[in-house]
Parts: sequence; structure tokens; C-alpha cells
Amino acid sequence: MPARTIPVDDFDLILFGATGDLAKRKIIPSLFRRFVAGQAPESAQLIGAARSDLSDDEFRKLVREALEEFVPAGLREKGQVDAFAANCAYVAIDAKGDGGWKELCKKVRPGVIHAFYFSVGPALFRDLATRLKANGLTEGEARLVVEKPFGHDLASAKELNDHLAESFREDQIYRIDHFLGKETVQNLMAIRFANVLFEPLWNERYVDHVQITVAEELGVEGRGGYYDKSGAMRDMVQNHLMQLLCLTAMEPPTRFEPDMLRDEKLKVIRALDPVEPEHVVRGQYKAGPDGASYREDAEAPDSTTESFVAMKVGISNWRWAHTPFYLRTGKRMAKRHSEIVIQFKDAPHSIFERDNGARPNALVIRLQPDEGIDLAVTVKEPGPGGMRLTTAPLDMTFADALGEDAMPDAYERLIMDVIRGNQTLFMRGDEVEAAWKWTDPIIDAWEGQRPHQYAQGSSGPEEAMMLVHADGRRWRDLGDGE
Ligand code: BG6
Repeated sequence: MPARTIPVDDFDLILFGATGDLAKRKIIPSLFRRFVAGQAPESAQLIGAARSDLSDDEFRKLVREALEEFVPAGLREKGQVDAFAANCAYVAIDAKGDGGWKELCKKVRPGVIHAFYFSVGPALFRDLATRLKANGLTEGEARLVVEKPFGHDLASAKELNDHLAESFREDQIYRIDHFLGKETVQNLMAIRFANVLFEPLWNERYVDHVQITVAEELGVEGRGGYYDKSGAMRDMVQNHLMQLLCLTAMEPPTRFEPDMLRDEKLKVIRALDPVEPEHVVRGQYKAGPDGASYREDAEAPDSTTESFVAMKVGISNWRWAHTPFYLRTGKRMAKRHSEIVIQFKDAPHSIFERDNGARPNALVIRLQPDEGIDLAVTVKEPGPGGMRLTTAPLDMTFADALGEDAMPDAYERLIMDVIRGNQTLFMRGDEVEAAWKWTDPIIDAWEGQRPHQYAQGSSGPEEAMMLVHADGRRWRDLGDGE
């Protein structure tokens, strides 16, 4: 069943940082796939902009190489690659000087949408935005896309917001959190708000607790310079896990419209309790048979940066007053496995024998791998052996219905949303600031502390297990489908 595509209006995407890793790995392949799907018009142009002195043809070669490496062979034909590359151009740009700007102005086509994509460090945001404005490029249908990290703390995020506001209006700014482009994350909203089954139960009366896990198998993969200054809290929790928490916990917006949705997310962030230090566990992976330690990977011999964090979060509002949210994320864990688990309470009274095998319901929203949704329900064990109960999953794995390769990458969806002018799945400035405001004191409290060590390929430090055990609960095993 091919996904429906609604073509977008003609556009030029001007990609700053076009020779960088993210551009090659995600942005260029995603744009190509939308082009092949017929969603991006044939005339749409990709203009790469970076410091290197490349010709148009050299950039096209880079584009071809990126497609070869990051788009499965079955999803690209030579003719399509040729056609896509023919619409690519390049400008060597000086973010801090005049070099390249006149040329850029000549290359962008008048009368089409202009999406300026900053896939560069935030230190360049202000310079680039100011020069875009000075060259008259922020007028009309101009949009700005910015990548994370959006600041390092509240003060720096505010500063970035102020700097961007000098050149762009808020309704032109698209702050990317690629987790919001993941199919399952959007499905979470469909599940909640387009079915009558779940929403009546989606509160502290029926939900015992919520678990949000984003476990990665990879380590810091050559990004030690960046990662060691961030750690799991800034790299993952302040943005990705926070967004997952917000979408899980928020009230239904009146309509699926950008500000209505973002208002509801913001209310959740503002209702988060401050986190007690004893409700946070930090970890750092140690050397193991399969690889070097975090400190070696990050080339930071004395580092106290966390590559794992687990925490218990409370939300002080009517819906969630007594339902804890447990979050955990880490690198070099047992599996690449991300999910949101809505763990329901026990049935109020059991008419069956004790120890009959009944388990409370759990709704598992799997982000990766095998994106899908799974509802654990208790049923009778088949056979004549009396009323024995067992848990059976009602499983909806999206790839079964759509085919693994057909699953769009988060970036495909998000880039098309930028062109369409739809900010629903992008973070608003006040939302980012509120998230930092909540995160900052947690990080400040770690001053001088060393993270717990954990074994590679594990579920994180023992202390993270204890955090949940202390409440008489346990984490779902990573990926064992239990
Ligand atoms: C990025 C983080 O934002 O998300 C990385 O900087 C992390 O450290 C990545 O690995 C995870 O994204 P995904 O889509 O691969 O799960």
C-alpha cells in the first residue's frame, strides 16, 4: 500500500553545512526520496552552501555519493539520481564575511518558497541569519530550519532565540527535533485522539506509570568533542525524551494546529515537578570486550559526562498527579530499542484464581526498531486446562503493512512540512526555553559528581534498576517483548 503523497509547491532548499555529516546522511537522502515519491516538484532546487570551495559539479558528485551510501539501492534508479543531481547547485559561503552572498542571491529563484536550513553549529546562526536578512532573503515565503542543539542551557537558548528573532519571525522558524518526525510518534497522537478506546483511560486513575526508553547500541561514534560537553541529558532528554513525554501527557488540543498543539506541550513542561537528586541516575559506560570505554571513545580521560541517564518525573496536574513517568536513555546499551510504555493498573477485582497468569494491560508504542504499537491484553490460555490466563499482544507493526523500506525517514516528513509551512511538529521558542528551565537545575546539581559505571551491552547501571524497584516496579526488559 503506497503512502499517499500530496505534492508541495515549488521550492529552493538552501542547505548551510551541505558538506557535513547530517547533510549527507539524512537531509540530502530525505529530499531525494520525496523527489522520487513525486512530492517535491521536479524543478525543486537544492543549493548547497558551505565554506569549502566546490564547483556545482563537485557538489553534485558529493550528492551522488551520499545517495549511494544512504539510500537503499532498490529505492534509487540512475535516471532519478541524475535528475535530482541536475537540480543541485553550490555556493561557497563565508558566514562571517561577504563572500558568496551575491552569488547565492543569483542562484535562488524568485517566486518560489525559500527554505534556509542551518545544519551548522549554533555559533553561526546569528551571522548567517543577519546576512540572509541584509541580502533581502528573509522576505516573502522564506523559512528557516535550525538543527539541535538549540542552546546549552536556558541562557544560551534565550540568546539564540533573540538572535534569530532579529532576522526571522517566529512563524518562519522551524526548530527541528527529528523524533517528532518519526512515524510512531505521530501515531501516538492518532491513537490517543482518533480512537475512543484509550483516552478515557489515559490518566492517573487507570495508568500505573509510564516508561520512556531510548536505548542505543552505538557509542559516541567520533562525536566525542560535541557529546562530552552535552551528555545524555542535553543530547537526548532535554529535547527528544521531553517531546515524547509531552505528547504522551498533554491534553487533547482543540485542533491539530501548530500553536494549539504546542500550547498543550508547553503546559506539560510547566507542570513538571523539579526532579529530586535521588530520582536521577547517571551512568557512563566502561570498557568491555566489545569496545573501549566512554572516556576513550570521547577522548576525554577524566570525563564525568553521562552517557546514560534514568529519572523519575512527576507531573503536577489533574491528569497525572500520582502517575510517575520513568525516563531512561543511554549509549552502548543492550539493544537499539526505543519505546513508550503505558502501563495500566490491575483490574480492580479478579474473579479468577490467584496467580492465574493475568497481567495488567500495557500499551507499547515502539519507535525503533520495528516501528509499531502493541497492546498487551490478558486472554484465556487455549486448551482444556481450566481457566488459565496468558498475555497476548495485539500487534500492529507498521513495516508489515507498508514494507520496511517504504517507512519514511523522520526528515522526509519534516522537510516537507517546512515547505508546506506547517510548524506543528517543530518546537516553538518558548517550549525550548521551558524545557531548559526544567533541565538546568538537574544538571547543576551534578557539579563535582561522578556517574555510575555500567557494562556495555547492559541496561545501564544497577542504580537505574533500583530507582524503579524502589517503587515496586521494574523496567521492561530491553526488547524481549515481555
Ligand atoms: C541525536 C543525538 O539527536 O539523536 C544522537 O544527538 C542520537 O546522540 C540520535 O544517537 C538518535 O536518533 P535516532 O533517530 O538514530 O534514534
